[in-house]
Amino acid sequence: MADVIGRAGGLLVEAPHLPGRLLRSLRGGSLERAVSGRVVLVTGASSGIGRATALRIAAAGGTVLLVARGRDALDEVRRAIDAAGGDAHVHRCDLSDLADVERMAAEVLARHGRVDVLVNNAGRSIRRSVDDSYERMHDYERTMQLNYFGAVRLILALLPQMRARRRGHIVNISSTGVQLSVPRYSAYVASKAALDAFARCIAPEVQGDGVRITTVYMPLVRTPMIVPTGRYRSFPALSPDQAANLVADALAHRPRRVASPLGNFVELAHAVLPGAVENVANGAYRLLR
Ligand SMILES: NC(=O)c1ccc[n+]([C@@H]2O[C@H](COP(=O)([O-])OP(=O)(O)OC[C@H]3O[C@@H](n4cnc5c(N)ncnc54)[C@H](OP(=O)(O)O)[C@@H]3O)[C@@H](O)[C@H]2O)c1
Repeated sequence: MADVIGRAGGLLVEAPHLPGRLLRSLRGGSLERAVSGRVVLVTGASSGIGRATALRIAAAGGTVLLVARGRDALDEVRRAIDAAGGDAHVHRCDLSDLADVERMAAEVLARHGRVDVLVNNAGRSIRRSVDDSYERMHDYERTMQLNYFGAVRLILALLPQMRARRRGHIVNISSTGVQLSVPRYSAYVASKAALDAFARCIAPEVQGDGVRITTVYMPLVRTPMIVPTGRYRSFPALSPDQAANLVADALAHRPRRVASPLGNFVELAHAVLPGAVENVANGAYRLLR
């Protein structure tokens, strides 16, 4: 029963993304065409959305490079891909250590020759009001270190070879929280928004070289990341496989952004009626302790 409710909730959250996905499918393109025979690096591939995405890419014929810190969990994903007849390689890295990112990127290019597609998925979230953050500057630093600087360092390391080959795709897993400016997530949302802004600035610089950047504004997904927030148990959320559908769709069709109508509506409302949106968010902040 709980499973049925969970699936129904997941469909409810996935449904708003369906019109965009349908439109893109009509334009053609498939995951197989996008990744078959290509080298695809997925960060945070040992758990949740990244794990499900890595399995999906491997099943579509891509060579998947699995990146995260935990060796055992990465090996488990590699074995699952091997068992299904796919091709995966583990490249351990602490993405919040920029020297380690440089080392890993050099190792990957030396071993595989290129990275055609980069999925920047590894991330950490912090749910804490500003009230509780006055003495916690490190919360802001550690979210930026991984969600922004780690991703930027990796992009800077892999972009030159994509541009030289005149083809590449970078998919950044952002959050609907950026569009909704969710209270209690100032550290997390700001770090995700920083990467979105970085991507929007460099996209016009690199498009002439065949490199596309996609930002996926991911809704709530039932992964280990949201476990600490007990309240989310009763919220509708995607399963990791449903989240991987959104990423697979982004890989297949290379849109500039993947977002729900709700996210887009709130983003637009924020530009036009910021006071009204802030009042609604204040209500949510008081209600959802
Ligand atoms: N779940 C949601 O509701 C949701 C909603 C919107 C956006 N997102 C975004 O989706 C992405 C994936 O989240 P998830 O929910 O799938 O989380 P998850 O299940 O907790 O997985 C996080 C992944 O990131 C890796 N990681 C964490 N710190 C790392 C580090 N310093 N260096 C390298 N890898 C690191 C983890 O592996 P190790 O710990 O072994 O390193 C793990 O593979 C994140 O960017 C998150 O912000 C999630």
